[in-house]
Amino acid sequence: MEICSEKKKALALVRSWNSRGISVGFVPTMGALHRGHMSLVEASLRECDRTVVSIFLNPAQFGENEDFDRYPRRLESDVSLLGRAGVDGVFAPDASEMYPSGFCTWVVQEGLTERLCGASRPDFFRGVCTVVAKLFAIIPADRAYFGRKDLQQSVVIKRMVTDLDIPVDIRVMPIVRESDGLALSSRNRYLIGGQRREATCLHEALMEVRDRFRGGERDVDCLTEALCGRLSRPATAEPEYGEIVAPDTLARPRSASPDAVAVVAALIGGTRLIDNMPLGGELEDIYLPPE
Ligand code: PAF
Repeated sequence: MEICSEKKKALALVRSWNSRGISVGFVPTMGALHRGHMSLVEASLRECDRTVVSIFLNPAQFGENEDFDRYPRRLESDVSLLGRAGVDGVFAPDASEMYPSGFCTWVVQEGLTERLCGASRPDFFRGVCTVVAKLFAIIPADRAYFGRKDLQQSVVIKRMVTDLDIPVDIRVMPIVRESDGLALSSRNRYLIGGQRREATCLHEALMEVRDRFRGGERDVDCLTEALCGRLSRPATAEPEYGEIVAPDTLARPRSASPDAVAVVAALIGGTRLIDNMPLGGELEDIYLPPE
């Protein structure tokens, strides 16, 4: 496995594959890898000849009072996990390689980024779009893999590659969940004591509106009310949003259809968690067996 911290080396490696017609899959991450990330890696290993994973804790997508300083950093164990999985290349730059002195060009998307997560994290998508556009230039892959847990991020990135004519196929993969439904996230390790149990309220709220939809409820106000009500049950939960949205535009539909998605965000004991679930269709999510 090749490990590069320099942009030039990573680009040369991927170009050497591109020029020989070898297909490349790319999994961008911020490290602290869990089984959700590894499901993206496995999809890339299955679908592409070579797989590259980036590990870069992107300061530009964290707000001033957010958790950049305490976000878990596990470079050594991440790299050995990726090596054992059969990954071909790891790109792990430092911040000065990605944002050298004088850096002043940002990718700002309008329309899809102001609501939902963008409402409480106003610079988040500017940081994500900028770093992902840069990563796509450094790692010119055929396919790039994102998790559906970050639904808004995947919609924004799909739009960005269309608008900027970036030739990469965006693959959005199913959510991986603990056996009790909690979606895997690097931030789950912040949950202590009873917060871990309370964090299942996101999944329970989503399942409740899915059940109501299956029972015939199509009124978006009623479904939204049920979603937010269930989300605010635990003592330490502070719901941020609970909405029904269209999967591609994130707009609120007039009435709920099977492809509409319930999306939620809440602070549990101060830890910000997000999750989502389509109202209809087969649930593709992967539930891990109990530990
Ligand atoms: O989803 C993430 O881990 C990050 O937002 C990403 C896409 C790696 C960009 O830093």
